[in-house]
Amino acid sequence: MSLKTLVLCLSLLQILLRPHKASAKVTAIIVFGDSTVDAGNNNGLSTILKSNFEPYGRDFEGGRPTGRFSNGRIPTDFISEAFGLKPSVPAYLDPAYGIKDFATGVCFASAGTGYDNATSDVLSVIPLWKELDYFKDYQAKLKSYLGDQNATAVLSEALYVMSIGTNDFLENYYSIPGGRAAQFTVQQYQDFLVGISERFVVELYRLGARKLDLTGVPPMGCLPLERAMDFMAGSACNEEYNRVSREFNRKLEALVGKLNGRLKGMRIAYGNAYEIVSQVVQKPDSYGFENAGVACCATGVFEMGYMCNKMNPFTCTDANKYVFWDAFHPTEKMNQLVANYVMKNNLMVFM
Ligand SMILES: *[C@@H]1O[C@H](CO)[C@@H](O)[C@H](O)[C@H]1NC(C)=O
Ligand SMILES: *[C@@H]1O[C@H](CO)[C@@H](O)[C@H](O)[C@H]1NC(C)=O
Repeated sequence: MSLKTLVLCLSLLQILLRPHKASAKVTAIIVFGDSTVDAGNNNGLSTILKSNFEPYGRDFEGGRPTGRFSNGRIPTDFISEAFGLKPSVPAYLDPAYGIKDFATGVCFASAGTGYDNATSDVLSVIPLWKELDYFKDYQAKLKSYLGDQNATAVLSEALYVMSIGTNDFLENYYSIPGGRAAQFTVQQYQDFLVGISERFVVELYRLGARKLDLTGVPPMGCLPLERAMDFMAGSACNEEYNRVSREFNRKLEALVGKLNGRLKGMRIAYGNAYEIVSQVVQKPDSYGFENAGVACCATGVFEMGYMCNKMNPFTCTDANKYVFWDAFHPTEKMNQLVANYVMKNNLMVFM
């Protein structure tokens, strides 16, 4: 063996024996989506879909309503904390925060929005493409705050979370006569939404994202509002809507598989919120809940947003006994269960 070969062999050996560098830790949580993850971006909009008043937020730090659609924190807050970051992820449009706060986590989500532009039009909220515009604006600010190089590192090691889709079906497809339902079968509409999701993820990748949680929709037919509308069925879950959720989620999961093979250096996890919500709704008592059919706020059957306010005498005193806080959104306790489940089953790859 020549000296040259020996040196080559030794350096190869050195490379092989070098301890595997653990994947760099998550530097920030960057959130896109709807009310499941909105931290208050609708507060300053002219929309009726807001929640920055009591009793929303009554179990949040300081008993403060922030614009989160819950009595306390939402899943992305718990996920941020689980990665050793801040215990809550601030909304980009909340004037109480600035780039210093957003450097480790920022939320662009808007309650009432969807993949489909026609969905955000229904209640005049932020369309998904506009959330992306805000993200570009954020990237520029982060670069002037941290410097180009450090900002690029933060952006590529950040965990991006997307949670969106329910409103496309419930607020749009099934609610607007002569709209999308006249144009698409529900399967075609699912494909249309998944196509938008794909273009959005590819765009995020192009902008530097490398770690993503693409979350599926919950069992939509078990939201108290949908159960109440199905009173002919004795307020059982609407199984037709649940089937649509599962079908859509399967397509989203297939997209995750496809993009993981195609986007070099990107890791996408499918966030299975459906599974945990379904388990809890079927057996609420095994999780310490007393009620999964109606919500804590007001009568618990149809109220959300302005209908869920502190004048209402029927609001429950202990939200921890309920799966749902208002007719459309989980309590903080349920949000924590969702976050724990997704962390354990889907996001460990990013730890
Ligand atoms: C939604 O609207 C934006 C802005 O007008 C547009 O660029 C985009 O192509 C639209 N998306 C779809 C799927 O129609
Ligand atoms: C970039 O990060 C390095 C390492 O953490 C740090 O030493 C440096 O000060 C940072 N640069 C700026 C402009 O913040």
